[in-house]
Amino acid sequence: MLIPVLVGCYNRFVTKPCELRGFLHGSEIFPFTLEVNPASFAAAIRQQPMSKSIESHLTEDREFLPAKEFSSKARISSLAQYKKLYKESIDKPDVFWAREAKELQWDKPWNKVLEWKAPFAKWFVDGKLNVATNCVDRHAEGPRKNKAAIIFEGEPGDKRVITYGQLQREVCQFANVLEKNGVKAKDRVLIYMPMIPEAAVAMLACARIGAVHSVVFGGFSADSIVDRLEDSGATTIITADGGWRRGKVVPLKENVDAALEKYTAVRKCIVFKRCGNDVNMAASRDTWWHDEVAAVSHRHKAKSFDAEHPLFILYTSGSTGKPKGILHTSGGYLTGTYSTFKYIFDIREEDIYWCTADVGWITGHSYIVYGPLANGATQMMYEGAPNQPDFGRFWKIIEENAVSIFYTAPTAIRAFIKAGDHFPANHDLSSLRLLGSVGEPINPEAWMWYHNKIGGKRCPIVDTWWQTETGSIMISPLPGCTPTKPGTATLPFFGVDAAILDEAGNECKANEGGKLVIRKPWPAMTRSIYGDKARYSKTYWSDYKGIYTAGDGARRDKQGNFWIVGRIDDVLNVSGHRLGTAEVESSLVSHPAVAESAVVGRPDELKGQGVVCFVTLKETHQPSEALRKELREHVGKSIGAIAKPDDIYFAPALPKTRSGKIMRRLLKELVTTGDISGNVTTLDDVNVISNLKASMNS
Ligand code: WT7
Repeated sequence: MLIPVLVGCYNRFVTKPCELRGFLHGSEIFPFTLEVNPASFAAAIRQQPMSKSIESHLTEDREFLPAKEFSSKARISSLAQYKKLYKESIDKPDVFWAREAKELQWDKPWNKVLEWKAPFAKWFVDGKLNVATNCVDRHAEGPRKNKAAIIFEGEPGDKRVITYGQLQREVCQFANVLEKNGVKAKDRVLIYMPMIPEAAVAMLACARIGAVHSVVFGGFSADSIVDRLEDSGATTIITADGGWRRGKVVPLKENVDAALEKYTAVRKCIVFKRCGNDVNMAASRDTWWHDEVAAVSHRHKAKSFDAEHPLFILYTSGSTGKPKGILHTSGGYLTGTYSTFKYIFDIREEDIYWCTADVGWITGHSYIVYGPLANGATQMMYEGAPNQPDFGRFWKIIEENAVSIFYTAPTAIRAFIKAGDHFPANHDLSSLRLLGSVGEPINPEAWMWYHNKIGGKRCPIVDTWWQTETGSIMISPLPGCTPTKPGTATLPFFGVDAAILDEAGNECKANEGGKLVIRKPWPAMTRSIYGDKARYSKTYWSDYKGIYTAGDGARRDKQGNFWIVGRIDDVLNVSGHRLGTAEVESSLVSHPAVAESAVVGRPDELKGQGVVCFVTLKETHQPSEALRKELREHVGKSIGAIAKPDDIYFAPALPKTRSGKIMRRLLKELVTTGDISGNVTTLDDVNVISNLKASMNS
């Protein structure tokens, strides 16, 4: 088959006059130059059979190279150096990962780097270490003793700086508290805390004594706590009276009390006093954190644990069924988070790093607690909401603390865009040298705004793709060497054998969409779904033999960059073409009137699926029929007629989970049935639904 080679347009959609530079046959190019007229080309192309792969129609030509100033000081400073090390890491993963792991402190060396009986991996077999002493004592007992580990700012404005020396005393104390209360290695401990340093102390204290923590995000309800207690079989809870969020107290202990009415196996509940709100304390079960620590020593002798000793369980939602308890273990997880943090954030002794995630998510585990602390970094930690008292709060924190590395999520970036440029403009952000993004595909326009308004056009952006299951970042630029383009997570990290496969298991050609997979095990990979190996094997390892399926659709461009389209179940099928909802959303968000959008499919007799868009406008724009028409044309122009929205609804807000992910499942149901009957317990704001319904009728 001859494949047209086109310049000035993308893929098979010729929407503007462009040049045909030749035909590709096998791996040979037959070159010539010809002006192409869109109408006749489209007519010719229509004769060809429809593609069964996910097609991608968004062009992105803007490319940004790291500044010399940045590269010259970076660990990996040229693409050639990256490629050489990447090749080694794939050809000889044992050599690469052993070298990384040796930078940590092992109490007993491993005998074998990897034992792989797909889909079950054991890394650093027979090696022994203590994860907490690697993150804390190692620094506290050396020149970093008085270095700040955590610079904390509470939402009301209270501040604390905790050095590595202090962190060591606090972790040791709390480890003693846990042991005194009968917590043993492998026991599960549920942590339900606000974003305060004690959340990290509690996690590290568990790790120190070999107990398995399961952190439940403080925004989750009592019912979610019950589910997680039941599944993990935890008998100890660490919580707080409350936490500050948008000027109000989140009643954490009250939620725990409600959960413990339904789940009665908890023997001990330790409560940190954060807000001073009234709480009930059950006589023998509940005790105060400050009373507990006052009664024990701040010295604690840590034991060594096997590299495969369980470290934590973190629950994540699947597309169906109850949440999955993603299990992570010790040596491999620590090596993976340590190494990725070191290279991807290119951490320096003098950096002030800030990740705005909550410890209740994997990002908080890997890139607030384990990765940064294993590297001896100084980090900022902030308790509350980004708009408390207004949308200038983050920028004020960056200015006051001279934050140099800032890691946040696209949903936050879009909220900032909506709020207005004057918020960041009012602050001196010149301390920043590196930006990061995580959680969903970042729309090119949001990327550009982040680059221009926050990064002052000088900071590289690392768009990091990974998952709760992967434990550590898998695909991301290295800031000193990778050319970046808005919207792509670019290239795989060392040791990550990422690829795009079609349904038959063949590797897709450049720009052809398919399923994102990882073909080799990596140290921080999940070891199983807690208590359910069969579900683990089926969910991640059954599409292709011995290969991990991430559940995301993606394509690779000619330079090998990975463009994540979104979850497979968020992909539309319009007239035989599979379109990524994220692409239509990106197109909408690139219009000056649009702040945020969510796109879902609705059954359509003619096209298979119609494209339905929910759009939140910027404060400066009002909904109108004319704007609706303009947006349709805009999508048509930037992606192609195929993606033109069938319906556009102007919504004051979109339904989101508490972590900020748009719940397209609800929108899909709403546009299909006109109502929502499904589970809305993970929804951040229940009022959004009635507003959405109203918007559909206006
Ligand atoms: C899913 C994993 C990884 C920590 C936060 C989310 C999406 C994540 C990116 C990115 C495009 C991304 C994927 C992935 N995702 N990062 N940089 N570009 N998509 O963890 O809740 O386990 O979600 O988030 O769809 O599969 P999670």
